[in-house]
Formats: sequence, C-alpha cells, structure tokens
Amino acid sequence: MSSQEDGAAEQPGPDTTVGPSISSSSSSLESDATTGDIITVTIGATVPTGFEHTAAEEVKEKIGVDARISKDRGRIYFPISTDKLFQVHLLRSVDNLFVVVEEYDDYQFKQSKEETAPKSSLMVSPLMRLWPTPSSKSHPKWRPSAESQAKTESAPEAESSQQDSGEAAPEAKVMKFRVTCNRAGDKHSFSSNEAARDFGGAVQEFFQWKADMTKFDIEVLLNIHNVEVVIGIALTEESLHRRNISHFGPTTLRSTLCYGMLRLCKPQASDIILDPMCGTGAIPLEGAIEFNSSFYVAGDNYDMAVNRTVNNICHIQKRRADKGSAPGLPIDTVRWDLCNLPIRTSSVDIIITDMPFGKRMGSRKKNWDLYPSCLREMARVCRPGSGKAVLLTQDKKCFSKAISRMGGLWRKLHTVWVNVGGLHAGVYLLKRTGAVFGQTPEDVYESRGTVNAQGDEKDDKELSEVTSGV
Ligand SMILES: C[S@@+](CC[C@H](N)C(=O)[O-])C[C@H]1O[C@@H](n2cnc3c(N)ncnc32)[C@H](O)[C@@H]1O
Repeated sequence: MSSQEDGAAEQPGPDTTVGPSISSSSSSLESDATTGDIITVTIGATVPTGFEHTAAEEVKEKIGVDARISKDRGRIYFPISTDKLFQVHLLRSVDNLFVVVEEYDDYQFKQSKEETAPKSSLMVSPLMRLWPTPSSKSHPKWRPSAESQAKTESAPEAESSQQDSGEAAPEAKVMKFRVTCNRAGDKHSFSSNEAARDFGGAVQEFFQWKADMTKFDIEVLLNIHNVEVVIGIALTEESLHRRNISHFGPTTLRSTLCYGMLRLCKPQASDIILDPMCGTGAIPLEGAIEFNSSFYVAGDNYDMAVNRTVNNICHIQKRRADKGSAPGLPIDTVRWDLCNLPIRTSSVDIIITDMPFGKRMGSRKKNWDLYPSCLREMARVCRPGSGKAVLLTQDKKCFSKAISRMGGLWRKLHTVWVNVGGLHAGVYLLKRTGAVFGQTPEDVYESRGTVNAQGDEKDDKELSEVTSGV
C-alpha cells in the first residue's frame, strides 16, 4: 500500500473522467449508490497549501457552493449534486479530487499497534455499503474513470456466475486496488505505511480484490489528520497540476500554484503581464489560457529555459488545433537578462514570477545581488501607482532586505505562505507605489556586478531537486 507521511507529498490517483453518476450522501455513500438517482456527494480536493481560500473562492464562483477548508492544510471539501459533477472539470486550483465515502471527526485509535487491526475492519464498513461484494450482482453506478470502468465492469458478475454455474467460464477479472494513506499528527502509534497496509488488508479480505500498487482500478484514500479520518475514492488519475507542461524543467511550478498566484494579482483585460524569469513558462502559460484577455511576455536568460517555454506553448497550440479550437495564445517569449530589460519604463501592469530560491551551491549569496537588481528593474518597467508584482521565493530574508532597500518603490500588500516541494516559501503581493523611478538614492544604487547568467543556470539546476513543484 502506498503512504505519505504528514501530507508532505500529495496522492496520485485516477483521472477526473468522472461521469455524472457518482452517488453518495455528503458524509457517507448510501446504499442507493446503485440506483443512479441524483443525489449530493461530498467532493474532497487537494490544493496547493496556502491557497485553500483561493480554491474555496473558485468553487463558489464556478460551482456556486460553499467549500469547507480542512484543518489539515491543503484540502477543501464541497458538496455537489451528481448531475452537476462535470463542473469539477472547471476548477483550476485543485490538484487531486476524491469522493468522500466517510468522515470521522474523532476516531479513537488504539494505542498499541496490535490493537489497530480490528479497527481497520470497522473502517472498511462504509466501503461495504458502497461496493458490491464479489458475489453481489449489483454495481454502484459510478466508476473513477471510463477506462477503468471498461476494464472492471464484468469482474464481480463474472465471478459470481462462475460460482453459480460451476462451469469453466472465461477467467473473471479481479478488481485491482491500492490504498494511499496520508497521515499527519504525532500521537499515532502507527506509520502511514502500516495504516495503509492494515486498511488494505481489510479491504482485500472483505472484497477479495487484489492489491496492485501500479495497475489499480480503484484507489482508496485514507487521510488521517490527528483524530480526523476521511475515507475516499480518488477521482483523478494524475495530479491536475501537470495540465499545461509537456517540456519540464528542473524547477517547473505546478499549474495549480501558478493559477493561485495569477488570481492574487487579478488580471484585467488588456493588462501587460511579465514573467521575467519564466523557466518553462508555467506561469504565463496558465495565465494565457485562463486569463486570456491579458497579454503575457515570458523571458529568461537561459537558452534552454526559453526553448522549453516555446515548446510548451507550441504543444498547447497543437493540442488546441487538433481539437478544432483556435490555437492562438496571447504570449510572447524572449531571451533577456531581467536586470536589464529591453522594455520601456512604466509600461507593464503586472509582474509575476518565481525567483531562484538560491537554496544550495552558494546561489543564496548571488541572490543578495540579484534580488535588489531585479526589484529595481521591475520597479522601473512597472506602472507607478497601479502596477503590481506577485513574487514567489523561499529566500525570505534576502527578499525582505531587498524590499526595504527599494526606497518606497514597492509596498508589500499581502503574503501567502506556501509549500513548494516541501519548502516553506512566500508569495508576495506587491504594489508599485506612485514614486517616480530614478529619483531616490536606491534607484541609482550601483550593482555589484552584472548577474552571471551561466552561474545562475548552474545554480538553478543544482536547485532543481529542492525547489521543483513537480
Ligand atoms: C525558479 S526558476 C523559474 C521556474 C519557472 N517558474 C517554471 O515553472 O519553470 C527561475 C528562473 O530564473 C531564471 N533567471 C535567473 N536569473 C535571471 C536573470 N538575471 N534574468 C532572467 N532570468 C533569470 C533562471 O534561468 C530560471 O529559469
């Protein structure tokens, strides 16, 4: 069984090809799951930590219901009726989706490991209401994906008919499953691995399904946060954050996180939006797709990054053309040094970028030059009085120091604390003040040398394992 401790990673799961026929009650799936009636289910969604409120806002906007933000960071829950289920496809801030089978607010775990096993059998009971036993002829009407439905449709009946007739029927296909456990809390006497194994054992014993870590038809989720337990069935096969990127780089940002950053700066029609350190272009691509009445310029000083961005744009355009929709995207790509942008003063509405974190190999040291230089150049090109910047960095100390040296060109409005590949980082929303560029001592501050492009490339590569959101 797979497991994830303390919610550091997220669960992979079946794809969102959910049909409108998922059936359950909001807290548990009732026995009428087999009737196909329109009822209300509770959907759980994992979202980039820190952007839970943004995700809830999006759910309200697109589905029209209130989402509940879990105490366990990075999760929201919302009700939806089964005839509206297709609307979950509209959400851009969610990584993974699952249907909630049962929730326990105060699950009484036993203290010793030996005693936990009987409790797992208890937890399996909500699944029993949802799913037919191997000998049952009834099926719940929903399946996580059309593909897995096709693969598994005949399994229970084939097995029962084999039992009924006693003849040599074609071999019945046994349902394959895996359990993924996410556990957070320090008072458990078991690891997430043990919980997943134990729970999986009980599922296997009852349903006679076969555990398979890679080729599974169903992924059962066991989310444990202190004494809260949520049992769910995954609806997404792979995280939705991969939607735009085909050519990944070492620090490619999740499209879901990019979406949260973009929402923070509220793009307006005809806004000029710059990502001056675009890497693979994840931020401007998400913007060009989701907020497409603005225009985006994506730049980087590293040839390979610029090429990746171009390839990612071409890939999306081809995908659109293949589907018969207009392929054009409002985005241009440039190779440039952010500290010396080929852009007119006061011409940009929004700057949104993911700065080098400088976590290893001495590049933190380089950030002491890079951050002030880039904040200054961003202040030059950004419109005084109305311009905004949304900047992501984990190098908080260096960033704060650089901002304090900007002579009032930028004002910090808000910070969203996020988790990027296990690192605690800040998304800073800055407003360009009305101060005129070039009139304060800080504006004429002499850089301690041009930022070394090749050096940064190398550092970014070194950083990749640490900062990658993928
Ligand atoms: C953290 S990465 C950005 C990753 C990007 N958000 C993505 O999703 O792929 C930072 C980027 O800044 C670029 N960079 C560093 N210094 C730069 C400079 N002076 N001018 C332009 N780009 C620079 C690096 O080449 C790197 O691609």
